[in-house]
Amino acid sequence: RRPVYFDCDTGIDDSLALAYLLASPEIELVGIGTVSGNVSAAQAAENTLRILALAGRGDIPVAVGAHDALTRAFEGGAPHVHGSNGIGEVELPESGLTAIDLDAAQLLVRLSHEYEGRLEIITVGPTTNIALALRLDPTLPSRVVEVTAMGGAAFASGNVTPVAEANIWNDPEAAAELIAAPWPVVLVPLDVTVENTLEESHRQQLLDSDRPLARAVGEMLDFYFDFYVELYGRRSSALHDPLAAAIAVGGVVATNAPLVDVVVDATHGPGRGQTICDLRGQRLGPVDQTGAHVRVVLGTDRPLDAHLVERLTA
Ligand code: BDR
Ligand code: CA
Repeated sequence: RRPVYFDCDTGIDDSLALAYLLASPEIELVGIGTVSGNVSAAQAAENTLRILALAGRGDIPVAVGAHDALTRAFEGGAPHVHGSNGIGEVELPESGLTAIDLDAAQLLVRLSHEYEGRLEIITVGPTTNIALALRLDPTLPSRVVEVTAMGGAAFASGNVTPVAEANIWNDPEAAAELIAAPWPVVLVPLDVTVENTLEESHRQQLLDSDRPLARAVGEMLDFYFDFYVELYGRRSSALHDPLAAAIAVGGVVATNAPLVDVVVDATHGPGRGQTICDLRGQRLGPVDQTGAHVRVVLGTDRPLDAHLVERLTA
């Protein structure tokens, strides 16, 4: 099983991604770091521990990571999207678990030695912890196979500003450091995540499951579906973080994913948080750019919805 470090700001779609990873026999979650984004890093860790307890996986180490972005203090998250506790006001049972005594960046560096040349990173929140790990040990990329990151917008509009997606917007400096580091990156932008939705019928399947974690995420989705009425005109939700998880695992395959140069705008003008993807010459199909190390996912082999529900309820 391929060892994976997962970094998240455990809101509702992060919870779906975590549930998917826990149900994936291809990989082994060897550590989880939390970061402020949807909620504070501390609340994200609390949510993560409760989810792990529900899944009977209290053995997976969870490290609290950065509370503040590299250059800006945490401003309270996105309670209108994920609820005040990050998981749609669902009260999960207390876990009886605690976070480990390392911060997330330290945990990541430690795991990169333990699983040298094998470790994969999946990040679905602001990438502050990854940037801090790179600062702690700039040789980190040499020990990591690949980083899959949910974030950015290629051709699509942003979801926080006209051009910025939330994970990048919440820490553009950190995203720029992740993208600049010499490791293969798979970027899963809004272009594909908003095309993958979950519907009320899927939510019912989750609620009907005999798996406690499937039922819990089914309950959380009630809140998320309300938020997404504005985007889709119906109760439904985008599958941002679980799509990144499924692509990293291989359950969904990226079919249109050219290697292109990507620059993160970390200026303070209207472009702040934009992922400038050089997609010139891509209109007729994917063309890899020489020297580029970021694969931008623009299309996949199948929708995630039924596959996700199947894994969570199996
Ligand atoms: C991203 O922002 C967060 O709110 C979601 O969890 C996802 O990671 C989507 O822009
Ligand atoms: Ca997230």
